[in-house]
Amino acid sequence: MKLKTLILAAGKGTRMKSDLPKVIHKVNGIPMVKKILNELETLGTEENILILGHKKEEILNVLGDVKYVVQKEQLGTGHAIMQAKDLLKDYDGDVMILCGDTPLLKHETLKEMYETHKKSGVATTILTSIYENPFGYGRIVKDNNKVIAIVEEKEADEETKKIKEVNAGVYCCNAKDLFNALDKIDNNNEKGEYYLTDIVGIQVKEGKNVASFVLEDNREILGVNSKVELAEASKILRERKNLSLMEEGVILIDPSSTYIEESVKIGKDTVIYPTVILQGNTVIGENCEIIGCSRIIDSTLGNNIRIESSVIEESIVDDKVTMGPFAHLRPKSHLKEKVHIGNFVEIKKSTLEYGVKAGHLTYLGNATVGRDTNIGAGTITCNYDGVNKFDTVIGENVFIGSDTMLVAPVNIGDKAITGAGSVITKDVAPKALAVERNKQIIKFEWRK
Ligand code: UD1
Ligand code: CA
Repeated sequence: MKLKTLILAAGKGTRMKSDLPKVIHKVNGIPMVKKILNELETLGTEENILILGHKKEEILNVLGDVKYVVQKEQLGTGHAIMQAKDLLKDYDGDVMILCGDTPLLKHETLKEMYETHKKSGVATTILTSIYENPFGYGRIVKDNNKVIAIVEEKEADEETKKIKEVNAGVYCCNAKDLFNALDKIDNNNEKGEYYLTDIVGIQVKEGKNVASFVLEDNREILGVNSKVELAEASKILRERKNLSLMEEGVILIDPSSTYIEESVKIGKDTVIYPTVILQGNTVIGENCEIIGCSRIIDSTLGNNIRIESSVIEESIVDDKVTMGPFAHLRPKSHLKEKVHIGNFVEIKKSTLEYGVKAGHLTYLGNATVGRDTNIGAGTITCNYDGVNKFDTVIGENVFIGSDTMLVAPVNIGDKAITGAGSVITKDVAPKALAVERNKQIIKFEWRK
């Protein structure tokens, strides 16, 4: 698509009352401006250029490799776009301008708007929508159905304030025409800023046509200027996400209390119960059940898994695993097929092979556990000596007695057994029994 975009993201975002630059505040788990870039990628634009200024390093840290120009001082949206003039001086194609704080725009809408713009042959097309309460947005002033100006809230008189058609902050126009008009704007207004919106009046005066592309769903153009609007935008994106998952065959018991971030993928017939939080690049297979208060972050889960009230971070869980209630997988853990971990079990940077069971009150860190091994209640790998971390290697078909302390580094051979309550500091040979505890003393008739 022979279309370049300019994305406004240099502003201070004062109304957000935040140290974080506005455009990298997250909406349903994704930085606002990243969400816009994703839509533009789907749209297939030629090049996307950001206008950065306020805390640009922080924004670049989040976005990585992007094309941008710098607006050193934030003198208004018109001044911001001017900063791209040098970069686009030899470009005679079309540009689409977007704001970095309108994260609900869909690529389908932008495509339709652009196609309409091309067909109509007008100088500029503005994306608009109708709000019953248009407060805060620029108003679209029309004469005989033709756009003649955009008037900002602060500049609007009582009559203009009543106009319900508002500016979404998205514009399509020819690059040369845009910069010609921008050369003529000034800052003689309430805010003392160079308003991009003033190009409309200028073009109309020059006899050019400006049209509005009116969007029916006004929620899509929501501009995020405050934390209230941030929550509103997140809610809308969450609803969209939930809807698309259900359409793909996922069962959400109560979508209104389910928090699934933008990039999460879930297979069909998986059931997600209320209060579940799924974040980041999490992938869940088919036919799973994720129950009550579970939180899963950046993890990959297979099929037919049952998780109850548990936390999983940056880990892999294979088919038919059962987990919880109240289990915790910390980063770099891998539970292979049919593993079961139960109440109050914490696993960190460990691999549990096929069929391993650790039912209760256990900590396994920096450990590998061979297939079909049983880990008794209260078992702990003592993997840290206060300075360094050490590995524990447990073989196949091992029986670790309850309350075993495995002082790492230590190896337990295949089919070995440890006696309950033992502190194991030395390697245990395959098939051996290791017991480390004092003999039980019995004093008869001890109590009178
Ligand atoms: C702007 C529009 C308004 C429209 C609304 C839609 C103007 C003058 N007004 O108002 O008509 O209804 O968006 O949401 O354009 N920015 C810069 N440099 C600056 C100032 C702003 O890059 O010097 C960026 C901001 O980071 C932001 C975007 O421009 O991403 C919009 O700025 P904002 O202050 O939010 O404008 P609004 O008052 O919402
Ligand atoms: Ca705004």
